[in-house]
Amino acid sequence: MTSATSFTPGDRDPNREPLTVRRIGFGAMRLTGTPMSDDRDVASVDRFRSIAVLRRAVELGVNHIDTAAFYISPMRSANELINSALGPYPDDLLIATKVGPGVDPDGKRYTARPDQLRLQVEENLRQLGRDHLDLVYLRRMRQDSIAEDFGALAELREAGLIRHLGVSNARLTHLVEAQRIAPVVAVENRFSLESRLDEDVLHACAEQNIAFVPYFAIAGEGREAGFGARETVREVDEAVAQIAKRHEATPAQVRLAWTLHQGPNVLAIPGTSSLAHLEENVAAGELELSGEDLTQLNSHYSAEQVTEAGGASAPEVSDTRK
Ligand SMILES: NC(=O)c1ccc[n+]([C@@H]2O[C@H](COP(=O)([O-])OP(=O)(O)OC[C@H]3O[C@@H](n4cnc5c(N)ncnc54)[C@H](OP(=O)(O)O)[C@@H]3O)[C@@H](O)[C@H]2O)c1
Repeated sequence: MTSATSFTPGDRDPNREPLTVRRIGFGAMRLTGTPMSDDRDVASVDRFRSIAVLRRAVELGVNHIDTAAFYISPMRSANELINSALGPYPDDLLIATKVGPGVDPDGKRYTARPDQLRLQVEENLRQLGRDHLDLVYLRRMRQDSIAEDFGALAELREAGLIRHLGVSNARLTHLVEAQRIAPVVAVENRFSLESRLDEDVLHACAEQNIAFVPYFAIAGEGREAGFGARETVREVDEAVAQIAKRHEATPAQVRLAWTLHQGPNVLAIPGTSSLAHLEENVAAGELELSGEDLTQLNSHYSAEQVTEAGGASAPEVSDTRK
């Protein structure tokens, strides 16, 4: 895992230091059990295992962790696990979080109004035990315009609660809209071998040296249900399996390596609650795919396979904003 990518506002804001991270990071959503589940029976990830996974990730050189206050199950909170496992935090650790979706004290899911975003930022600060947040994404739910929401976060950035801002589940129009308000250092969108949503956003990020952070890089169309939930073996899975065999690697590693081949500004945040998978995922940073591998992988892609970018892995609620 030799190469690194920066979250940098560049000349968009020369007063803020870029934050440089290794390209394989870690997504914390899987640490709590089934994402966003209300079912107590599935909140089964062992707390000590989750803590061990986080500590091992840092030992292996991971210095970018993606989380959210809404990564909770009835028994677990990803932010609390991160704080317990890693606090006091290593100096070079970047913790990225997301606001917008939320879960109120009664367990009811909501989408924050702009004036509620400060409370969500403070909730993350409290849970993570920090006095500022390194990187906060506005996770768009169903709003067409994010100007008011992003404007509220820009004020918190000016106030010193947030160092850098990003957008998530963003179409190109949202990226442009946000950039008119404050520098955007990262976009976190669903993107995988078979779900190449918003390629125009990927290209805009490459052109402007904005970090592009895909989620579901391994899970693909399995989405919240996970990688193992994928039932159909399609041509793309067969190609992945063949390439994995050629490199003595695993399918998950090939998917992550393909992700990193999408550009030097692209990062990976694989999520797992398994130590063995974590080790595999970090090692995927060293897997070099050949031109032939990439051609084979890309030849099975058809834009028609793509399903709509939904509100994945954020509380699905009707818009409760007034
Ligand atoms: N901005 C957003 O709206 C949004 C939405 C979703 C997710 N995210 C972020 O993106 C991160 C990544 O997404 P994700 O965790 O859902 O999906 P992912 O990393 O694409 O895949 C995770 C799934 O693959 C399995 N897995 C992981 N490594 C594996 C390996 N080496 N071999 C076989 N299976 C493996 C995991 O199960 P095991 O636990 O059994 O390994 C889990 O089922 C999340 O953790 C979260 O931080 C953001």
